[in-house]
Amino acid sequence: MKLTKRVSDIAESVTLAITSKAKKMVKEGIDVVSFAAGEPDFDTPMHIKEAGIEAIKSGFTKYTPSSGTLELREAIAGKFKKDNALDYSPAQIVVSNGAKHSLNNIFQALCEEGDEVLIPSPYWLSYPAMVNMSEAAPVFIGTSAGNNFKITEKDLAAKITKKTKCFVLNSPSNPAGSVYSADEMKAIAGLAVKHGFYVISDEIYEKLIYGGAKHVSIASLGREIYERTITVNGLSKSYSMTGWRIGYAAGPLEIMKAIANLQSHAASNPSSISQKAATAAIAGDQRCVAEMKREFEKRRDLMVSGISGMKNIACIKPEGAFYVLCDISKLKMSSVEAANKLLDEARVAVIPGMPFGDDSVIRLSFATGTAQIEKGMDRIKEWVSKNG
Ligand SMILES: Cc1ncc(COP(=O)(O)O)c(C=O)c1O
Repeated sequence: MKLTKRVSDIAESVTLAITSKAKKMVKEGIDVVSFAAGEPDFDTPMHIKEAGIEAIKSGFTKYTPSSGTLELREAIAGKFKKDNALDYSPAQIVVSNGAKHSLNNIFQALCEEGDEVLIPSPYWLSYPAMVNMSEAAPVFIGTSAGNNFKITEKDLAAKITKKTKCFVLNSPSNPAGSVYSADEMKAIAGLAVKHGFYVISDEIYEKLIYGGAKHVSIASLGREIYERTITVNGLSKSYSMTGWRIGYAAGPLEIMKAIANLQSHAASNPSSISQKAATAAIAGDQRCVAEMKREFEKRRDLMVSGISGMKNIACIKPEGAFYVLCDISKLKMSSVEAANKLLDEARVAVIPGMPFGDDSVIRLSFATGTAQIEKGMDRIKEWVSKNG
C-alpha cells in the first residue's frame, strides 16, 4: 500500500511507547510511580460537569454553528478582555476540538511548501508534526537552562529568512515551564512586525503560573503585533477538561474566516455538550482554577527541592505549566535510555527529552499527588546515586 508522504513521515511516538510500557507494568501488579502525565490529575469541577449533563437533558445535542455557539464565543471574548487585555469580537474566534485542533487549523491556513516555521527547542512535539503536515519546514531555535529555556531576540533574529512564515510562542511552555516577560515578548513582537511573519501564541498553560511570574498575551502589546498574532487557548489544562476537547483561536478576521471555512468542512463543530460545559467554565466561578494552581505550586516546590538534593541530575524551577525538566547530561546516557532504565530499575515513569528536541533532559510531570512525588523522588535519588 502506498500511503502519502504526509502521514508516512509522522514518527511513532517514543512518549507513547514509554507510557504504555509503564501501564503494562502497573497491570502486572508492579508499583510504578508515574511522572509521565500530560494532563491534570484533578476531576473536572462539578459545576462544569453539571452544565454538560444539563445540555444532554435539555436536548442541546445537535449541530451548532461550526465555529462554536455565539454564547461560548461571547464568553471567550469576555475572558480575553478581562484576563488578557485583548479585544476580539466573536467573529474573530473559532472554537475547535481542543487547542491541538486549533493549532492544526492555523498551520493549515497559513503554511505551505516553501514556508519556514520557527520553533524554540525543546518544544511540544506536536508543533513540528503539524508543521510537517502543512508541508512547511520546522526550523528549531535552541535554548538552554542558563536562559530558562527561552530564546533571546538575537537567537530569533539569527534564524529569520525570507521564508519565515510563523514563529511559535508557547508561554508558559511545555516541556520547560518557561514564562516570557513582557519585555522579552516586545523584542519578539518587534521582529515579527519588522520581518512580516505571524506569531502563533499558544497560551494553554496561562493559568498555571507560579510565584511572581505574570502571563502576558503578546497580541496585547500593540496594534501591529495584534494584527500579526493568532492567540490559542483551551480548557484542557486550566479547568482539567482534557477529555471534553475544547480549544479556541482568535486573530485577524480574514485568517479566522479562512479557518472557520476549513473547520466547517473538516470537522463541523466541537461537541455541543462540551461547548455548554466550556461556557459554564469560562463564565463561571474561577475559584476552582485558583485551587488547582495552588496545589500544583506546592507539588512543583516539592519536586524541585527533591531534585535539588540529588547528585548527578539538576533542574531549574519552572515558572509555569506542570513539568520539571531535569538535566541528565552527567549520567552519560541518552534520554531514552535514562527513561527506560528509570522505569525498569527504579519503577519511575518519565518522558525522555529526545522527541522534544533535547536529548540531555528528561521531563517529570508533577500532575500527581504529593505522596507519589515523595516516593518517586526517593527512588530517583537512589537510582542516580548508582548511575552517575
Ligand atoms: C503546549 C501545548 N499546547 C496545546 C496542547 C493541546 O491541548 P488540547 O488539545 O487538549 O487543548 C497541549 C497538550 O498537551 C500542550 O502541551
